Amino acid sequence: MHNLNVRSARPDEIDRIMALEDCGFHKNIQESKSVMLERMRHFPAGFLVLANDADDAIGYLCSELWESSEALDVSAFALGHDIKDTHHADGKSLYISSMTVSPEYRGSGLGKRFFQQSIAMLRTRLPHLRGSILLLSAEWSGAYKIYQDSSYTEVTRLKDFFAAIAAHDADAIVMQTSFTDDIHNPATQLGKK
Ligand SMILES: CC(C)(COP(=O)(O)OP(=O)(O)OC[C@H]1O[C@@H](n2cnc3c(N)ncnc32)[C@H](O)[C@@H]1OP(=O)(O)O)[C@@H](O)C(=O)NCCC(=O)NCCS
Repeated sequence: MHNLNVRSARPDEIDRIMALEDCGFHKNIQESKSVMLERMRHFPAGFLVLANDADDAIGYLCSELWESSEALDVSAFALGHDIKDTHHADGKSLYISSMTVSPEYRGSGLGKRFFQQSIAMLRTRLPHLRGSILLLSAEWSGAYKIYQDSSYTEVTRLKDFFAAIAAHDADAIVMQTSFTDDIHNPATQLGKK
């Protein structure tokens, strides 16, 4: 299976990224353009896009580096939080703050491949990483499957975290994984599933 075109996001494609945000998430939980631009400027290595043959972004993934203490502080997960308050350049935990793929490209395995290739790329760029954490709605079954297949396991649920958008289950699920394998050994990399 050939590699996807995954690269760092560019500030000049922010409108395309905001269009992806609009297709990916309910309006009550969409991040603002200023929050997204700040993420890109403050931690450019952690903001990736999946590009098509024309090099247009058809998906994005953004992240932060946390110290272990943030994982215990629910406010670090809050919508609209300022990356400058939570990101530590030497943090060993990769927090995936958001990911989406354009609707017309969903359902054929691209989301999972994009996620796993992004994690592999970030681990290569940031060899001091020891693990990763993320939060998702209990209703996002596709995303849950991707993270589960990428060795993330559920650590806790935050009751009613997604009350503003939930249809039937408003809980958030926090998932974590440890990077115990050797990223330079292809036999042990994410993406084996
Ligand atoms: C989550 C998202 C990126 C998945 O993209 P995708 O390209 O459709 O995902 P894939 O095709 O790689 O599917 C991955 C797995 O999830 C499963 N899946 C996808 N949608 C599903 C759903 N609604 N319910 C159950 N399983 C689902 C697929 O069958 C596949 O499983 P498999 O590998 O065993 O076949 C995309 O749906 C999206 O952008 N959603 C909106 C934003 C979002 O939820 N982001 C993640 C939270 S931060």
